[in-house]
Amino acid sequence: MKQLRTQVGIVGAGPAGLLLGHLLHLEGIDSIIIERRSQEYVVERVRAGVLEQGTADLMTEAGVGERLQKEGMRHEGIFLAFEGARHRIDMAEATNGRAIYVYGQNEVAKDLNAARRASGRSLTYGVDNVSVYGYHSQAPSIRFEAQGELHEIACDFIAGCDGFHGVCRQSLPPEDVRIYGRTYPFAWLGILAEAPPSCDELVYSLHERGFALFSMRSPKITRLYLQCEPDEDLLQWPDDRIWEELNLRLQTSDGWKPNTGHILEKSVTGMRSFVAEPMRHGRLFLAGDAAHIVPPTGAKGLNLAASDVRNLSAALGAFYKNGKERLLMEYSAKSLRRVWKAQRFSWWMTSMLHLDLGANAFDRRRQIAELDYVTGSPAAMASLSENYTGMPLD
Ligand code: FAD
Ligand code: PHB
Repeated sequence: MKQLRTQVGIVGAGPAGLLLGHLLHLEGIDSIIIERRSQEYVVERVRAGVLEQGTADLMTEAGVGERLQKEGMRHEGIFLAFEGARHRIDMAEATNGRAIYVYGQNEVAKDLNAARRASGRSLTYGVDNVSVYGYHSQAPSIRFEAQGELHEIACDFIAGCDGFHGVCRQSLPPEDVRIYGRTYPFAWLGILAEAPPSCDELVYSLHERGFALFSMRSPKITRLYLQCEPDEDLLQWPDDRIWEELNLRLQTSDGWKPNTGHILEKSVTGMRSFVAEPMRHGRLFLAGDAAHIVPPTGAKGLNLAASDVRNLSAALGAFYKNGKERLLMEYSAKSLRRVWKAQRFSWWMTSMLHLDLGANAFDRRRQIAELDYVTGSPAAMASLSENYTGMPLD
């Protein structure tokens, strides 16, 4: 068995693992990152697109924001559409200048991979059979296979950044973990299309046929989503049917609708809310989707991964600098306070904007009244805006 040694062993090279590795590097702390998938898969998979103001600021402060500043699209507002009309919420006005940045998760992954390579620290893709040991002792370890050889990382701490299906949380004894969650009776069919965005900002739409979302990735690429069944069969969705349905759900009476174009990618994403508490187990720390999942309607998942690892890197930094464990002790409670606020917001956006087949006529009228209130009351717009652009990080 090949023996390796580092300060922090990081499982998973999604946004949480790569950003943690980078923030630790800036603190002078060594880490080894191991990832099950190939680099190509991690960078190419189409996922999040919205960075909160604080996430964008964090990337910039950490020296990985250069391309984000150039190519990221700063949005100061969003539209909510219902009953045939689009209503703009001016988030910057409501929050004293805060905004969001539309910048694909794959671009974040590219920037963080480049920073990791430049740091010269270890990052290995395509590992197998990862397992974690001894996290209730002072000397935890991680084992894995790479190119047919067994490896063992001896480390001071393990960071479980391995997503919802990862091994770290699932290695914990069930009696040590409190699980909270719900699944939703719908999913999103998402497409990426070669079509210039027909609107400068995102449009979230509630239609009697279901939810639809207009988003983008670049001045040439539109990203769109449709509410569908959790077990929706993509074979039933040829391109023409997708465009027809998107047009029905998104077009507004002022004549606005998305531009169409060649569809580059199609996928179905289930929707769930999930929290596993606590986020610390001895010297094993969970961060990002490994500890919590939000439905995508609030655009919070990637941002929570970033705020978790910001807390964790600061806590590990303090520990290595002066031996103080206070921030490590506070990591779980501090991160969970933010996580639960994002859970509340994501659940609220989801229930306000989706067609729930279990709802009756009263519920539907109430849903429209809620959208009417949120798009008409300065207080309600301010509340949505401060949550959407991101609550303050500290
Ligand atoms: P992940 O990105 O899941 O990374 C975990 C990594 O660990 C993976 O690369 C995985 O391969 C690896 N791994 C798993 N098991 C192991 C193992 N045993 N050993 C080693 N490695 C392992 N969020 C937003 O903020 N805004 C959005 O607009 C948004 N839109 C979304 C749209 C869609 C369609 C989807 C699916 C998600 C969206 N999200 C959004 C959520 C966001 O993509 C996730 O929250 C984010 O990827 C979480 O990052 P992470 O690093 O915690 O987990
Ligand atoms: C996206 O662009 O992929 C996106 C935008 C907003 C969301 C979810 C996903 O709420």
